[in-house]
Amino acid sequence: MARLSNDFLSEIKYRNDLVELASSYMQLKRRGRNLVGLCPFHGEKTPSFNIYTENGSFYCFGCGVGGDIITFVMKIENLDYMEAVKFLAQRAGMSMPEDDYDDSLGRLRTRIYEANREAARFFYSKLMSKEGADGLGYLRGRGLADSTIRHFGLGFAPDERFALGDHLRSKGFTEAEMTAANLVFKSKSGRGVLDRFYNRVMFPIIDVRGNVIAFGGRIMTDQKPKYLNTSDTLVFNKSQNLFSLNNAKNSKSDQLILCEGYMDVISLNQAGFTNAVATLGTALTAEQASLMKRYCKEVILCYDADEAGQKATARAIDILRRVGLTVKVIAIPDGKDPDEFIRRHGDKGHAAFQNVLDNSGNDMDFRLFKLRALYDFNTPQGKLDYLNDAVKLICELDNPMERDIYASRLSDDTDVAKPTIMEQISRGIRRNNYKRRKTEFSQIQKNISARDDRVNPQHADNLRAASAEENLLAYLINNPDKLTYIHERLSPDDFLTDFNRKLYIYFSDKILNNTDPLISVSADFSEDERSKIFRLANSYPDMPHTVQALDEFIGIIKEEKSKPTDSEIRNSTQDEFASLFSKLKDSRQ
Ligand code: CTP
Ligand code: MN
Repeated sequence: MARLSNDFLSEIKYRNDLVELASSYMQLKRRGRNLVGLCPFHGEKTPSFNIYTENGSFYCFGCGVGGDIITFVMKIENLDYMEAVKFLAQRAGMSMPEDDYDDSLGRLRTRIYEANREAARFFYSKLMSKEGADGLGYLRGRGLADSTIRHFGLGFAPDERFALGDHLRSKGFTEAEMTAANLVFKSKSGRGVLDRFYNRVMFPIIDVRGNVIAFGGRIMTDQKPKYLNTSDTLVFNKSQNLFSLNNAKNSKSDQLILCEGYMDVISLNQAGFTNAVATLGTALTAEQASLMKRYCKEVILCYDADEAGQKATARAIDILRRVGLTVKVIAIPDGKDPDEFIRRHGDKGHAAFQNVLDNSGNDMDFRLFKLRALYDFNTPQGKLDYLNDAVKLICELDNPMERDIYASRLSDDTDVAKPTIMEQISRGIRRNNYKRRKTEFSQIQKNISARDDRVNPQHADNLRAASAEENLLAYLINNPDKLTYIHERLSPDDFLTDFNRKLYIYFSDKILNNTDPLISVSADFSEDERSKIFRLANSYPDMPHTVQALDEFIGIIKEEKSKPTDSEIRNSTQDEFASLFSKLKDSRQ
């Protein structure tokens, strides 16, 4: 990839404020010069995500991810480097420098979006033509109005093996592009490419920016598989997207209704509930939960009434709560899923479903109800076991008022005095807090040292040198005017670990060229390396930064360098060993 100029990158960073941008995705609180908030990249309850206003970067002590504004956009919008730069340029009203980079991957992504859009148009026009009569009949038969079909851009893939491929070819798409979009695949007989979808009604999946990123196709009979979905591509990851979030995000509600299927979402929309979304044929993931968190405060779980649906509900409650969402659970009174329920009520679908919504229990009701069924209340032991498990659940509630309500209910239910129950709850909360702090802390340690090992494999074996090297680098980044002073005393050869040596050369070069040493770290390093670099850069205020401290870092690096390495000792003959040993003694004095 040819590079963007430093001037251009400086301007991008100057014209986009990380604090302002991040605030549109999350809540931030000021803490001294910096800002903190709950990390949008992993689930947590105590904020460890920091924004450093001084150099416009961020670092999360929970998951160990860090970077500049470009990295932030890459991660939160799921874009590659060039796309994130474009996103920021557009946001600041700047135009991209033309053609001075070769962005072949970015170009392929654009072609996949275009091929998908063309395919969606093709499927829609087939649905509306004679060939698509079965498909249209099927969708109408399932109660969908033509306006709903149009709104969701539903379509029909004809019962042929070359229809879409031929069409896309006529529109100038190459087989490589269609294959990358997962719209066609190579035939085993070598007769070119075959359509992936045929004789199915088609559901386009559209992301929040309006791009067609994938398709689900339903067979119109009882054959299997019932639904066929686009496999993951350069523009689609099924565990990071939700069906109809593009509609739901405009719904002005601070709740999202989460269901299992495409048809549930579409029926709900038709009945006026535009805030419905569904996963894409997989169980709910933490990424999807974080994604929802950006658009709502509360999720109403509306899974199928069958056993699988109930299991999935219990699992989803945990995942959603972990990212800080409140959760409600709907039990569909009659019928298998929301789609069937709404259809059964015909014209009164909206009112009927609204009634179910109004009566939705929160997740605690759901869990206590399920729990209660497991115990035999006729024995004291059964009652006691229920109490213990129920108290554990109540301890997870963050809101003291809610805890109080459930304690009252539990007291009524079991005939145990409420103060006794409250006492148990307080004890449980103290225990949970202690455990949480402990696991969060050890998780942080684990993440950081795991990354240090990946980024700098020599770190663990050279702790003293590596940490002096890192202090020196942090010093250099924050005091570029000391470059000459440092260069006169320390050469790259003095470094013990290769990664830190590479950084020393890299930052020196930037400073010599009079640019911000961090300006293009997002382009030049991997995600792990980047995170490590921004942790380093932002650790500076916590370390000593006098010139004496600097001299000490340099001293330690040189001293460690002059020590013989383990392998030198192992490979040396007796004589050599004696001389190495005296060298070692000298360096320690
Ligand atoms: N699904 C899938 N592949 C399958 C079956 C299901 O990807 N072979 C996904 C689809 O996203 C589907 C969801 O799981 O929408 C729920 O499946 P299911 O409850 O079986 O389907 P419904 O949505 O009820 O489908 P329909 O009403 O069309 O029968
Ligand atoms: Mn269904």
